[in-house]
Amino acid sequence: MNLLILGSGAREHAFCYFIAKNPSVGQIYVAPGNGGTSSCAVNVNINPLDFESVWNFCIANDVSTILPCNEDPLVNGIVDFIQHKNMTTGIDIRAIGPNAYASQLEGSKDFAKNFMDRNNIPTAKYKTFDENNVHSVESYLDEITPPYVLKADGLAAGKGVVITSDKQEALQLVNEMILNKMFGEASKKVVIENFLQGIEISVFAITDGVNYKILGSAKDYKQIFEGDKGPNTGGMGAISPVPFADSDFIQKVEDRILKPTLLGLENENNPFQGFLFLGLMNCNNEPYVIEYNVRMGDPETEAIFPRLKVDLLNLLQAIPEKKIDHVELFYDQRVAATVYLVSEGYPGEYPKGIPVSINTESNGDDIFLFHGGTKQIENNQIVTNGGRVLAVTCLANNLNEAIEKSQKTASLIAFQGVYFRKDIGNDLLTYTHN
Ligand code: AMP
Ligand code: GLY
Repeated sequence: MNLLILGSGAREHAFCYFIAKNPSVGQIYVAPGNGGTSSCAVNVNINPLDFESVWNFCIANDVSTILPCNEDPLVNGIVDFIQHKNMTTGIDIRAIGPNAYASQLEGSKDFAKNFMDRNNIPTAKYKTFDENNVHSVESYLDEITPPYVLKADGLAAGKGVVITSDKQEALQLVNEMILNKMFGEASKKVVIENFLQGIEISVFAITDGVNYKILGSAKDYKQIFEGDKGPNTGGMGAISPVPFADSDFIQKVEDRILKPTLLGLENENNPFQGFLFLGLMNCNNEPYVIEYNVRMGDPETEAIFPRLKVDLLNLLQAIPEKKIDHVELFYDQRVAATVYLVSEGYPGEYPKGIPVSINTESNGDDIFLFHGGTKQIENNQIVTNGGRVLAVTCLANNLNEAIEKSQKTASLIAFQGVYFRKDIGNDLLTYTHN
């Protein structure tokens, strides 16, 4: 079976690396891929949003399964497009992921909030504004308690959420978003929601629409600087599992959030197939949804997958066959710590093409290197090609050791201007007993 993975980050390298472990997989292609995926797959130069080219490539190369790893193709309807093509041609190519309707859980904050409302899923109270009711934003801000959480409705490359306690600033920002299209079409609508006090955690599941398996919990470190300071990034590191996410907490997430989400979409005739990422706030041990994502996270995948004792290819194949409940999934009891090495200047402007010297390697047991923004040039030389360059994951018997090992391994990778956070996971040590 030939497979096409869409995307170019360390998450995609992790998918590629673990899928390739199944000897029955045929050729793996990654579009566009990176300097790491080229060691376990063939990189192809196709834009994942050019669905017609994706389809043509699959036909020409006997690809039977497409795995979109990031949200853009899913929200833009790649699953519906491929299904339509299958119907009109009689060919059967499987695109793994939710359809465009279900992908609105990530693609529209307003859709997600409405959906949670009608399915009694715990989340912060909110109201949506657009150009028709923008005049009433001020009176709404007077009703709620700061800080104010302002969210552009659509996809805004992780930049669409602003939190401020200054009412005037909030008012000005909402006006900027709606009337001056601060985030383009994505901010035609703005959700204003109550601030949730707590600690963030994400829970990941794979589902065929009815059955699901929990893949794990993870905590992501979004800000560029230590102590969660500075601008947001795609994620600077992750820990999995999260020590406070005990079985009681996970049970609450399943009962109050995951099951009603899957049932709600099934009832709306658009069952969710694929990976569901629940971005949660733990408020005194009660989970609330901050956001849904309709795909795995990056770097959360790099922390979660090395702990999974499962054949990833079999797991993926169980989605369209609606047999997720037949797959046995075990977890490595060790803790995973992932640290992202990034380019100087990231998340702002950064240089590309800088040679990377990697004085360590994945051993398939407790050390994994997943390439993100890298490219392989002549003589097997790896150079930087993006902001988040390489993710290092280390497993160890406890969190403290996993943190130390990931820091030590990260320091064995060098390139001019390299930066990584030295505090990934430190905040979670207070929740552990070792
Ligand atoms: P989102 O894109 O919705 O995940 O929001 C980005 C970040 O804003 C989250 O990771 C949280 O740190 C923060 N955030 C979002 N919604 C809330 C909320 N209701 N209360 C507190 N923090 C929030
Ligand atoms: N690390 C956050 C995300 O993948 O959205």
